Amino acid sequence: MGNHNQPIGVFDSGVGGLSVFRRIRADLPHETLLYVADSGHAPYGNKPAEFVARRAFALTEFLLDQGAKAVVVACNTATAAAIARLRAHFSIPIIGIEPALKPAVAETRSGVVGILATSNTVRSDKFAHLLDQHGHRARVMVQPCPGLADCVDQGELSGPHPRALLERYLEPLLAAGVDTLVLGCTHYPFLTPLIQRLAGPEVTILDPSPAVARQLRRRLETVELLADGHMAGGERYFTSGIPERTSQLVSRLLGHPVVVEALPGQA
Ligand code: DGL
Repeated sequence: MGNHNQPIGVFDSGVGGLSVFRRIRADLPHETLLYVADSGHAPYGNKPAEFVARRAFALTEFLLDQGAKAVVVACNTATAAAIARLRAHFSIPIIGIEPALKPAVAETRSGVVGILATSNTVRSDKFAHLLDQHGHRARVMVQPCPGLADCVDQGELSGPHPRALLERYLEPLLAAGVDTLVLGCTHYPFLTPLIQRLAGPEVTILDPSPAVARQLRRRLETVELLADGHMAGGERYFTSGIPERTSQLVSRLLGHPVVVEALPGQA
């Protein structure tokens, strides 16, 4: 059984999971957080699902070796590929993320919602199940977005390349009358200003990070592993990519300087 002052591990294929990490940081200030950007193997969105599942296992093992009391899979693609197997294999709480379709079908006024996600996420069984559960309550337009997460991993949050991709991906959705857009990849919240500009002010953009942070808190409360209120909290960052480059990008995305360490032993 764990101890409440152990860290929480968070991982993603790259820097996208920081959209979840920053929310956890804000909501659970006493926790120590570890973040792994698997940049040496990104993107996950177009790789075989088995490869993504193997990475999810390797990174979870690494986080457990660092003493993690819980792991957040801050990646829709890795959640779709591996969450059931991770939960069956490891005994600590493992929190995943999935596109926020349920709130989207509840909130839409036009009755048409759009989901932006990676190709792997939209072709997964887990996604098919999500559509079966909630998809009948609205018209759901599913849009795979190859190349979009890479823009964020390269620090391109505006500019001609992400703009051209988004124009192409949003065009059929907007033409169909979408008024609610689900960001089904943790990289995309960093593109929200651009997405909002292209989609227009009437379109609601849903990011599931607050729900993930809430779920994490609930799970930790249930197993009595929430950090003590007098703990200062803290963070460490790791990458399988180039540490200097990732440090620059993470610092920029979080808005304060951080040092990212090399993932030891290439987990
Ligand atoms: N951030 C990831 C997700 O939420 C995957 C992006 C990628 O590596 O393709 O799906």
